[in-house]
Amino acid sequence: ALVSATEMLKKARAGHYAVGAFNINNMEWTKAILLAAEEAKSPVMLGVSEGAGKYMCGFKTVTAMVKEIHDYLGITVPVALHLDHGSYDGAKACIEAGFTSVMFDGSHYDFEENMEKSKEIIEFAHARGISVECEVGGIGGEEDGVTSMGEVADPNECEKIAALGVDFLAAGIGNIHGKYPANWAGLNFDVLGKIQEVTNGLPLVLHGGSGIPADQIAKAISLGVSKINVNTELQLEFAAATRKYIEAGKDNEGKGYDPRKLLAPGAEAIKAKVIAMMTEFGSKDKA
Ligand code: G3H
Ligand code: ZN
Repeated sequence: ALVSATEMLKKARAGHYAVGAFNINNMEWTKAILLAAEEAKSPVMLGVSEGAGKYMCGFKTVTAMVKEIHDYLGITVPVALHLDHGSYDGAKACIEAGFTSVMFDGSHYDFEENMEKSKEIIEFAHARGISVECEVGGIGGEEDGVTSMGEVADPNECEKIAALGVDFLAAGIGNIHGKYPANWAGLNFDVLGKIQEVTNGLPLVLHGGSGIPADQIAKAISLGVSKINVNTELQLEFAAATRKYIEAGKDNEGKGYDPRKLLAPGAEAIKAKVIAMMTEFGSKDKA
């Protein structure tokens, strides 16, 4: 069965490694990531954005699909199905649809409202055994061709959200969704260190996990990061492998246009990348 993420992230925090939260888009992504986790003997989180939830015909469809694929493949490692960057209503809908973990991202509200809504979601989720992630500060990202740097989290605010009983906390520390620009200053380890000091062993979450150099990943883990979100990296891998297959004309050979053949190189590339990242994050052989 799918599990809440609380235990796996507590273990990761204590064991000084991080669990990857990989975003899914469809059956191929789900299958590839689950097979990678099983092969690497690693715990894993499957992230679902609200947009991806709509794309997959709703959170109930996602839950049913993930549960069935999980059971069909005989997956034995711990797997959490997690809402990524959820709204207040989205978080409640996912809990009702059978997700085992949710992120309520109230970082765009003023802090008092973020606190209030986070508190409500934590109560609602914990009454049902579901883990919760909240966010303080902002993660940068590209919008209309312009990359914003995000808002570095205030450690005092992190302390207050931690005191609500949240299970793990995402904080803006100079991380960015999507590709990192050439002039990126790197992660803000001073702030991460301060957040770690005031959050009393709480597992911390690093968003924008695609394209961060290995030494910065290692340092972030040493300062309490126990969950790393990865989305763009797998999209790039899938696109490159699919493009290679098509440009080599493989889709014209035999029945290479069969979708099961056409999508296979991309799925294999996702699986290989996930295993590589689990190795880098230290979660390999921790299941
Ligand atoms: O919430 C999702 C992640 O933070 C993914 O970021 O696309 O830069 O890997 P990424
Ligand atoms: Zn994110």
